[in-house]
Amino acid sequence: MEVMKRTTTCGALRRSDAGKTVVLNGWVHRKRDHGGIFFINLRDRYGITQVVAGEEGTAGQSLAAAAAELRNEFCIAVEGLVRLRPDGMVNPAMATGEIEVAASSLVILNRSEILPFQIDEESDAREDLRLRYRYLDLRSTGMQKRIRLRSETAFAVREWMTGRGFYEIETPTFIKSTPEGARDYLVPSRLYPGKFYALPQSPQLYKQLLMAAGFDKYFQIARCYRDEDARGDRQPEFTQIDIEMSFVSRDDVLAVTEGLMGHVFKKTLGVELPACFRRLTYEEAMERYGTDKPDLRFGLEMKDFAPYVEAGGFQAFKDALAAGEADRRAAAARGVTVPGGGVKALVVPGAAGYSRKQIEEMEAQAKIYKARGLAWMKVAGADGAPPVLEGGVAKFFASQASGIVEGLGAARGDLILIVADSKRRVANIALGAVRSKLGRDLALIRGASSGGSECPRFEFVWIVDFPLFEFNEEENRWEAAHHLFSYPQEQYHAVMEQDPGAVKGDLYDLVLNGYELASGSIRIHDPALQKRVFNIAGIGPEEGEKKFGFLTEAFKYGAPPHGGIAPGLDRLVMLMAGETSIKEVIAFPKNSFAVSPMDDSPSEVEPKQLEELHLRVIPPEEPRYP
Ligand code: AMO
Repeated sequence: MEVMKRTTTCGALRRSDAGKTVVLNGWVHRKRDHGGIFFINLRDRYGITQVVAGEEGTAGQSLAAAAAELRNEFCIAVEGLVRLRPDGMVNPAMATGEIEVAASSLVILNRSEILPFQIDEESDAREDLRLRYRYLDLRSTGMQKRIRLRSETAFAVREWMTGRGFYEIETPTFIKSTPEGARDYLVPSRLYPGKFYALPQSPQLYKQLLMAAGFDKYFQIARCYRDEDARGDRQPEFTQIDIEMSFVSRDDVLAVTEGLMGHVFKKTLGVELPACFRRLTYEEAMERYGTDKPDLRFGLEMKDFAPYVEAGGFQAFKDALAAGEADRRAAAARGVTVPGGGVKALVVPGAAGYSRKQIEEMEAQAKIYKARGLAWMKVAGADGAPPVLEGGVAKFFASQASGIVEGLGAARGDLILIVADSKRRVANIALGAVRSKLGRDLALIRGASSGGSECPRFEFVWIVDFPLFEFNEEENRWEAAHHLFSYPQEQYHAVMEQDPGAVKGDLYDLVLNGYELASGSIRIHDPALQKRVFNIAGIGPEEGEKKFGFLTEAFKYGAPPHGGIAPGLDRLVMLMAGETSIKEVIAFPKNSFAVSPMDDSPSEVEPKQLEELHLRVIPPEEPRYP
């Protein structure tokens, strides 16, 4: 069939085109039948144009039969005359709303069966249905816009990075299995039965090898694979903007990332970002926001309530601090630093009217994060008179009311929420979770979806000075907080082994609107220091050699000092698009069970394929989805 090829697109025609004869190709978005005259909204990825077919006295009349047959999502070609819409029929909401095309010829290129769901601006179909027919879902204007934003973002990244002398270098996706936080996806080798390649969780080791190889500025838009539970901001396969540089300090890496973000936001959204992003240390972030990914689109900073505990009569707070202090001393006697207990407070402005039920909901949130409870009191009192504390634990702190209200920066009509725990970290994290919930519930995140002008939509913050090691209580051992190759800050080198918990690394995260957007670090380039870090993480010389020998060997041949970072491309585009799930910015994502409902992967394979791989499947005891 000879296709009647388009001479323009469905988004291009304007008033000035009236009088032209054009050919359009596209999909029937909607069709209205006005007594034998058909108004067809013809759609392609550029927009929608109204086509009129079947009018009396025009060449199009003979098309009425063809037009009558049209259904939504038929793919058609139309030839016709561009004309101005009659007065009163202009649609200012459409870019092409001033014109319409009077059809003189109409060809059906392909028919469509009844659709599983309507193609609208955004689909409200169930997620699995959207994923099952993803190619239809992708026709929606919303998905088309987001996929375009993703493409423009990737282009802007390449433009900026190559413009600054970075090479884009591909690294292998069949690699050696090495522990890197999540579980590896494995690929069995047919040639070497019993041996496996792993899909990379990130190009980490290879980008470091590229530094050893002298390519001092590398980037890659890299596919990464992690076998971990899916969440809104996680997929089993995802994309990183992976970056590594030699002869740099932490601030050089941060500056490159700020420049990159500035360029991407300007180019794709026309948004001007600050030249530098604010910085918080990990400790400050935990103390003030109870998380290392604070959403700074709203304030609600947590305050220290400990100074008021001693004089107050509330035993639970006193006990928490006393138990924390005992732990701290016991640890100090072993030469180990632990922070002791904590009593933290959050002032919720104007929330004194909260019901008990609302407070209980917040308590439930705190308890998810291991808080024993959520104490509260309200600030009341007559105008001009000293403030009074009411309700909850107020009676224990009545005599300190003025000092507390002033010290916490509270005012009449506010609600004060308090979490106490013998582990300061628990108090911080639990109250931080309440803070995040309040941010969502109270729509404190101004401008988050409305693009409100008084508050910027994008709040970037660097979190720096992370601890290098974390204690894994279940396994009773230290492990790398980020990965094993991050550089311990100089001042800790001498005492690392005695007190791993106190060691800060040259590690940084970039956080945007409460999401971890990027992580990175300055790396260890000294084989001896690397061995010590392995050792603390319980990886002896033999295991280190077996798992990472190729990297540590490379470091023996004059590897340069280096560092880098990796922003997640999916999360970046998700946040730019104002979405809360990365599936909305990935053309063909997996669902939350790591399944693709469209092609049914993962799927069984032929027995012959397993045989060739020398593999035998042990079926699970319980059948699993899908
Ligand atoms: P990290 O593991 O923190 O660091 O990952 C860096 C960034 O990648 C994104 N990301 C994900 N996005 C979607 N789905 C996932 N499952 C997922 N996991 C991570 C996040 C995250 O901030 N090699 C180091 C980086 C470095 O040190 O240079 C790394 O991979 O946006």
